[in-house]
This record gives sequence, C-alpha cells and structure tokens, in this order.
Amino acid sequence: MTKETIIIRNAGVDDIEDVYNIENESFDSPWNYKNILHELNLQFSIFIVACIDETVAGYAIAWQVQDEIQLNKIAVKSNCKRLGIGKRLMYRIIEISDPPVTRVFLEVRESNAEAQLFYQKLGFTTTGFRKDYYKTDNAILMERRLPADEDQ
Ligand SMILES: CC(C)(COP(=O)(O)OP(=O)(O)OC[C@H]1O[C@@H](n2cnc3c(N)ncnc32)[C@H](O)[C@@H]1OP(=O)(O)O)[C@@H](O)C(=O)NCCC(=O)NCCS
Repeated sequence: MTKETIIIRNAGVDDIEDVYNIENESFDSPWNYKNILHELNLQFSIFIVACIDETVAGYAIAWQVQDEIQLNKIAVKSNCKRLGIGKRLMYRIIEISDPPVTRVFLEVRESNAEAQLFYQKLGFTTTGFRKDYYKTDNAILMERRLPADEDQ
C-alpha cells in the first residue's frame, strides 16, 4: 500500500456503520450509532473518514468554534494502525478548518499511552489534568497551537 491509496474525504450516511464498528473496537465508552449519525447534521462538526480501497479504515470528528478545534474522536482500525492514517486525518482537519485554526485541543485517557505518543508526535503538548474525568480514568488535556496561516 502506498500513501496514495489512502483517501481522506467527508463522511456520509453510508459510512456510519463502518465508523460505528471502529468506534466500538477502539473505545471503552463508545458513542452510539445515533450520536455518530447526528454529527453529519451539525454545522460546526468536521467529520471525515480515511478509506483504503473504498473501505473505511479510520475517522475523525471535531468541532470548530471560530478559530479553535476540539477533537472529539480519532480512531483507526486495529489492522491499519501505524500507516500514517491518524496523522493524515489530523492534518486534514486542520487543513479544511474555516476560518484557519489556531488551536486544536483534546482530552485523552491517562492510560492511553498510544494516543498520547501519537499526539506528541504531531506537536501536541500537555496543558492540564482532570482527575476522575472518566468513570475509570483521569484525563490528560493536550493542545497544539498553530499560526493562522500555517501550511500543512
Ligand atoms: C491514536 C491513533 C488514532 C493513531 O493512529 P495511527 O494511524 O496508528 O497513527 P499514525 O500511523 O498516523 O502515527 C503517526 C505517529 O504517531 C506515533 N504513534 C502512533 N501510534 C503509536 C504507538 N502505538 N506507539 C508509539 N508511537 C505511536 C508515531 O510516531 C507515528 O509515526 P511512525 O509510525 O512513523 O513512528 C490509533 O492508535 C487509534 O485509533 N487508537 C485507538 C483510538 C484512540 O485511542 N484514539 C484517541 C482517543 S483520545
């Protein structure tokens, strides 16, 4: 597989079942089908999927408010990890943000070392900590700041 075979595009209704399956595989407290579907109708929601051979391999859901983005979800199918898909999803979110984003922020479980390493690699830094934010875990707050005209 080459990078060219990964297509990143806006999500549509036909993708929701695949996204729901990856969501369930990836998270202890997954969003339900209805909530994922609802994201398609939110004007401030950026909902994109990464496809390999027309099969959904990952997705990201983020909310943009003015020049800030809250990353709500990013997940890649277990057999498609470490192919650069997560990175491309993140870059695309930044690329299509309108107006251009100057801050991306998120919460990640303290126990989720994989995701923290991923975010660090993408230039995120830790900005805070929320004890018992999740039922069974603490949250690490991370963010990345960008100049408004940064070219990805
Ligand atoms: C986090 C996640 C989205 C990363 O997706 P991915 O497509 O595997 O990530 P990429 O291939 O783009 O990785 C980019 C870089 O991040 C770092 N990275 C990613 N996963 C890593 C891991 N498990 N261990 C160490 N570094 C990692 C690496 O530096 C990697 O570059 P490299 O492969 O050239 O070394 C994926 O692991 C995932 O879906 N996890 C489960 C869901 C989840 O926890 N989402 C985040 C919730 S806050």
